[in-house]
Amino acid sequence: MRFDIITVLPGLLESPFAHSILQRAQKKGLTEIVVHNLRDYSTNKHKSVDDYPYGGGSGMVMMVEPFALCIEKLQSERTYDEVIFMTPDGQTLNQTIANHLSSKKNIIILCGHYKGIDQRIRDLYVTKELSIGDYVLSGGELPAAVLVDAIVRLIPGVLSDETSALSDSFQGELLDAPVYTRPADWRGNKVPDILLSGNQAKIDEWRDEQALQRTKERRPDLLR
Ligand code: ADE
Repeated sequence: MRFDIITVLPGLLESPFAHSILQRAQKKGLTEIVVHNLRDYSTNKHKSVDDYPYGGGSGMVMMVEPFALCIEKLQSERTYDEVIFMTPDGQTLNQTIANHLSSKKNIIILCGHYKGIDQRIRDLYVTKELSIGDYVLSGGELPAAVLVDAIVRLIPGVLSDETSALSDSFQGELLDAPVYTRPADWRGNKVPDILLSGNQAKIDEWRDEQALQRTKERRPDLLR
């Protein structure tokens, strides 16, 4: 699966993809993540990519031409399943959307800045608009990294134990049960006896109960 991310701040996206699971997924050839500098597609001598908004108002608006040139170049090279714009007024990302996108082959992600991007980019090129939550960040780069992470870990072969993505919180309807590792007694705080019992059926039953209880307490909205 290939991601092409278009941004004015490519440096912001270096670290998130250079470690751990995302790095391994790229090394194994299971995903390719290519970051493009929008400024390379600016057509003026100052390499600017934003301009004043028509009708006045504060903040700059990202221009249509650089995005259009970059997207069109990519689309001339391969077919894309989605052109996704990260924006706080998009549909809120959730596990269902991540699952759906993990079966795609090629995805373009646009990162906005300033006051937003020219509406014509959204009208003419964007196929999906996603938000990572009801708060406003300085740009779409961190949201793009969140989206790529959520998708890549679902690609078969990326996680060493494939079942561990399937048992994540949100993958079913329930949050995860609590987990523990050694020592069994840390400063008098003990791991629940059941987990040391060796009785797998009882352990599974306990985990199910804990997951249900946690979900009731923290996210009753998830219980239909
Ligand atoms: N850009 C700025 N804030 C954002 C958010 N919450 N989600 C997606 N893109 C954004």
